[in-house]
Parts: sequence; C-alpha cells; structure tokens
Amino acid sequence: MQEVVDRFHVLWYETRQRQTWRNTSWRGVPAQQCPFDLWVYQELIASVRPDTVVEVGTKRGGTTLFLANVFDCVYGRDEVDARVIGVDISMRVHESVSQHPRVRLVEGDSVAPETFERVRASSGSRAMVLLDSDHSAPHVLSELRLYSRLVAPGSYLIVGDTNIAGHPVLAARADGPWDAVTAFLEETDEFEPDPACEKHMLTQSPRGYLKRRGD
Ligand SMILES: C[S@@+](CC[C@H](N)C(=O)[O-])C[C@H]1O[C@@H](n2cnc3c(N)ncnc32)[C@H](O)[C@@H]1O
Repeated sequence: MQEVVDRFHVLWYETRQRQTWRNTSWRGVPAQQCPFDLWVYQELIASVRPDTVVEVGTKRGGTTLFLANVFDCVYGRDEVDARVIGVDISMRVHESVSQHPRVRLVEGDSVAPETFERVRASSGSRAMVLLDSDHSAPHVLSELRLYSRLVAPGSYLIVGDTNIAGHPVLAARADGPWDAVTAFLEETDEFEPDPACEKHMLTQSPRGYLKRRGD
C-alpha cells in the first residue's frame, strides 16, 4: 500500500506541466500547498485555536490569505486579535493579502535576529508556526531552533516540504527539511510528530507536523 501512495506522491509532486502544487491558488492568489495540507491547517486552527499563525516563506501569499480567511471563519471577522504573520526575504505578496486586516508582513532573512525579534514582538501567546522558506537542512534547523520558541504547548510547528530529498520526491537531492527535523528531534523532546495530521496520506509535510507537548 505504501508503495502505491509513494508512487502517486511522486507523480503528483514531480509532474512538470503547470498543474498540482505549481498551479494551486486560494481566491486567485498562488498557494504552493497540497490542498490536503491546507485542509489540515484549517482543522488545526479550529481545534487548537491559536491567536497567531506565523508563515515563514510567503511567496505570493495564497496560503497567508487562506490562513487569514480561516481565522475569519473560526473567530468571526470582528475578532481582531488573531493574526497571520508572513515572513519573506523578498516580500511579493498580492495586494489582497497585504490589505487583509489580520495579515502582518515582515520582510527579512527568517533566521536573522532582527527578523525573528519583529515576529516575536507581533506574535501572541498561542502561536502556531509554518516553516516554508529556504529548504536546505541547515537553514530549516536554524528556523526550528528559533521559531519553536513561539509555539504554545499543544500547538504545532509545521515543517513544509519534508517530502523532498527522497521522502519520497526529488530523490536526487542530498538533504532537506526531513533531515533538519531528524536533527531537531534529537536535541529536544518538547515536540513530537503527529501522524494524525498525515491521515490523507498525501502530504508535503511527512513527519513534519510537530506538536508541542503539554496542555
Ligand atoms: C516555497 S516558497 C513559499 C510558498 C508559500 N508558503 C505558499 O504556500 O505559497 C519559499 C519562499 O521563501 C522565501 N525565502 C527563501 N529564503 C528565505 C529566507 N532565508 N528567509 C525568508 N524567506 C525566504 C522565498 O523568497 C519564497 O518566497
């Protein structure tokens, strides 16, 4: 069964035409995510009820807008105290994203101390974090060490694209977010992967939904 799942995953991810994750959008804005993962984000927001989602790596901002709209649905449009903080080294989000009242944008290298400090200052006490920027293992490990500090007990630190570097896609690549997660879990027991978030079988974050213990 796993072989079938992996073969479909490779077909879904590596198809070169403008389809699958290269051509997915939310309300007209590109969102480079598997729709199954977007659905799981929605379920986590509804159940964990974070006051902040930090998305590190926004690109055009379709996922940022999706998260802000989920907050609108879960909390109602008038609840202003729940926000999405989007971080990117080169901010290029669509104007419908930057104009959304729940969206805060921070431009800078995600692992630079001044970037993290700006995010920390805007973040609430019940944050959830989504890491989806530079996918090299050293960079992701640095992000994990930094941004894990913001994640509330019972909330989630989600690592995007743990599927690359052979898990099961882009097998020729030497390392990626999966390896960063392995190193991170060796140095902390504060977080554990939540396999329930992989229930749809196709996910761009295999072993990447890290739940903070407690609560
Ligand atoms: C895979 S895209 C993000 C896709 C987006 N999360 C989505 O769902 O549509 C990666 C983004 O990370 C940004 N990025 C790359 N290196 C970065 C860094 N060191 N710090 C912050 N952002 C970075 C890139 O500019 C790019 O926009």
